[in-house]
Amino acid sequence: MEKKGARRDRVLEVLEEQGGLVPGASARVSEQTGVPEADVYGVATFYTLLRTPGVARVCQGLSCKIEGSDALAQRLRDEGVPFEEVSCLAQCDRAPVSIDPHMELDHVARRGQVSPADRALPMNLGGEDDASYSALARAKELGPSRLLEELKASGLQGRGGAGFPAHIKWSAVRAEADPTHYVVVNADEGEPGTFKDREVMLRRPHLLIEGLAIAAWYAGAEKAYVYLRGEFPGPKRALEHALAEARPHLEGLEVHLVMGHGAYICGEETALIEAIEGRRGMPRLKPPYPTQKGLWQKPTLMNNVETLACVPDIVLRGGQRFHDAGRTEPGSKLYCVSGHVENPGVYELPLGVCLDELVAAAGGYIGSPRAFSPGGASSGFLPMSFRDTPLDFSALQEAGSMLGSAGVVVLNDSVDLLEAARWQQIFFEDESCGQCAPCRIGCRLQRRALDRFLETRDPVHLEHVEELHWEMDAGSICGLGMVASLPLLSAMQHFPEDLDKK
Ligand SMILES: Cc1cc2nc3c(=O)[nH]c(=O)nc-3n(C[C@H](O)[C@H](O)[C@H](O)COP(=O)(O)O)c2cc1C
Ligand code: SF4
Repeated sequence: MEKKGARRDRVLEVLEEQGGLVPGASARVSEQTGVPEADVYGVATFYTLLRTPGVARVCQGLSCKIEGSDALAQRLRDEGVPFEEVSCLAQCDRAPVSIDPHMELDHVARRGQVSPADRALPMNLGGEDDASYSALARAKELGPSRLLEELKASGLQGRGGAGFPAHIKWSAVRAEADPTHYVVVNADEGEPGTFKDREVMLRRPHLLIEGLAIAAWYAGAEKAYVYLRGEFPGPKRALEHALAEARPHLEGLEVHLVMGHGAYICGEETALIEAIEGRRGMPRLKPPYPTQKGLWQKPTLMNNVETLACVPDIVLRGGQRFHDAGRTEPGSKLYCVSGHVENPGVYELPLGVCLDELVAAAGGYIGSPRAFSPGGASSGFLPMSFRDTPLDFSALQEAGSMLGSAGVVVLNDSVDLLEAARWQQIFFEDESCGQCAPCRIGCRLQRRALDRFLETRDPVHLEHVEELHWEMDAGSICGLGMVASLPLLSAMQHFPEDLDKK
């Protein structure tokens, strides 16, 4: 039983202070927090960074794989460096990468690019950060209803993956009768192929803090939480520095930076809430939605880093102007591009550009392009016949894929698509939280089916892939289980010639 007054919310923090799940740590954490030891142990084993503390980490994301993460791992093995292979480190523009036990970048192939400085761009990633907080002052002058009108006119869709209209979420939280409201920033950035939020926090931290302050003021929140992935010490330092500078403008708003501990699923909004509350990051059933019952069961406005960073521009220059910056859908977009392109990086472009335009901004293709993954592992693979499809939320959905968090990975003809699908299947199998049987078992069965096929080339092993996908899609609580089969299904659909290889 949890003791009265137990500090469950401190479990992960105290575990981290103990150096992770080292001998005796769970008992000490239990003593300090009042949470039963078995429970502490169960929480700790969920998170890679706590379960295996004090080792280097080698990224196994798609971009790192195609750029040689296996060779990097072998080098570390030969050097006798203790390391663990992990799903993704959000450094795809520098692939292949590893980090040291303190989460600092260790082996990096190159430095990623960002879009050029351009003050006309809402995000202007390459430009100077602005600490004047004039947008916050302007938002207060406008008042809540006109602010909401501007947000609505902007057409801003959430940049965390689902593209949900921001104004609907904002007004839903404000309308909740409970007097305590929270704002949470999703800075977990775990989708392989995605590293844009990292650059916003490093280069334009005030843009995020100002967007957050406007959201908190609008939602009536006195406390805000920024949940950063544990492998982001650099962005954390940038935010700490900017928060100290921003203090005079924040009028008592408490902003807490919470570090994650290495679990992709904690990017899912309800899993993220569970993690802040000190539990295993297992998604909750919805409804109720976080806007109704979120953090500590209070109405919670959760937005992605990029979504909030769009808000100051919308307030200062008007929603319509932001809207018109898009091509097929509203606004500019931070596209991440990596894989077989000359200059991997983050490029701010009108929402709806096509692959060729994005890759032109990134210096062109390397080799002969064959496929691309438009929105991280969850989006599967598309062949180059989709190179003119707008990279937006609706066109990619129609194409059977998704924009997600716009982590575009380009693959040239040196990559076997079934092998690439296998890497993605392993990612989903490793990162499933395991609470829904269709996802937990389905991810393993899909990966095994592909393994057997690759060993034998007998198509009988792939016969049940579609049916299993149906079960996983229909029977999973969260998006992970619903999309986990897409890499394999899309490879089978669009690249049948790879099935016939001997
Ligand atoms: C498996 C899974 C992982 C997710 N990972 C992230 C993430 O790393 N960052 C993020 O902002 N949203 C992520 N999301 C989406 C969030 O659940 C949520 O929709 C988002 O934070 C809402 O913010 P937005 O409306 O500004 O997009 C993930 C969703 C799922 C299903
Ligand atoms: S679908 Fe998978 S990741 Fe999502 S809650 Fe269920 S088991 Fe966990």
